[in-house]
Amino acid sequence: MTIEVVPTSPAIGAEVRSVDIAAGVDEPTFGRIIAAWHQYSVLLFRGQRLDDAALVRFSRRFGELDAVPPNEVAKIFIKDYPEISVISNVKGTDGKPIGSLGAYESEWHTDMSFMDVPPKASALYSLEVPPSGGNTGFANMYLALERLPADLRRQIEGKVTVHDATLTSVGSLRMGFQPVTDVTRTPGARHPLVRTHPETGRQALYLGRRRNSYVVGLTVAESEALLNALWAHASRPEFSWHHQWRVGDLVLWDNRSAMHRRDAFDPAARRVMHRTQIKGTVPF
Ligand code: SIN
Repeated sequence: MTIEVVPTSPAIGAEVRSVDIAAGVDEPTFGRIIAAWHQYSVLLFRGQRLDDAALVRFSRRFGELDAVPPNEVAKIFIKDYPEISVISNVKGTDGKPIGSLGAYESEWHTDMSFMDVPPKASALYSLEVPPSGGNTGFANMYLALERLPADLRRQIEGKVTVHDATLTSVGSLRMGFQPVTDVTRTPGARHPLVRTHPETGRQALYLGRRRNSYVVGLTVAESEALLNALWAHASRPEFSWHHQWRVGDLVLWDNRSAMHRRDAFDPAARRVMHRTQIKGTVPF
């Protein structure tokens, strides 16, 4: 199989063309896909026809899958596929949401960074898309670190942050958590602000999520000032690319080197996506 890899922006992402994932991807081609993924952090495969079995099968080639992560809606979304999360604003015949995140804006974040062992990758497949809105942005955290002003780079040397477990990326409280009133007591994992990608060996800024975050060892005021400066830098437009979805797109991103966010969309429109997450290792 001869694939074509075409960058989607100067900052991050590449489209992989001439691949029919459902038909099967041979080992040499898969090796080229992995190499492209390590180079561009986010891969887009357009025009795919994936049922849930094919999505799970392809995702498993990247590693063992996580079960559905804690969310505001359900423990399991699809009975036969406990690894698949549904991301959707659609309501079922019982009036309950069939998926999580609604039609809200989702803020810049890295999936599940509040876990001690966050997933290394996430794959999102589009089944229904709204006529406008709901675009997903990706930001290159290798680049953000490389371009970090020297004084900020010095300030984060050896520093660890707490990644909030209580809120989803759209700001809803996860089941079983109380609102945070003191960030020094935020529940969630502690990870280094600079992490090394275990496969590429490159260093990346690892911010995870802004709300309720805290830089361990600083006063709250110092921590807030440092985090505000880091987030203002990391969310600069030149580090990112924003994907406009079509039905049949599969996007695979690397949580070790990329953050992502989503635009809000019209709640009356339908957006249905199926997502898998591939297990990672402890960030270092
Ligand atoms: C997410 O923030 O993980 C969801 C991305 C999306 O719905 O496009």
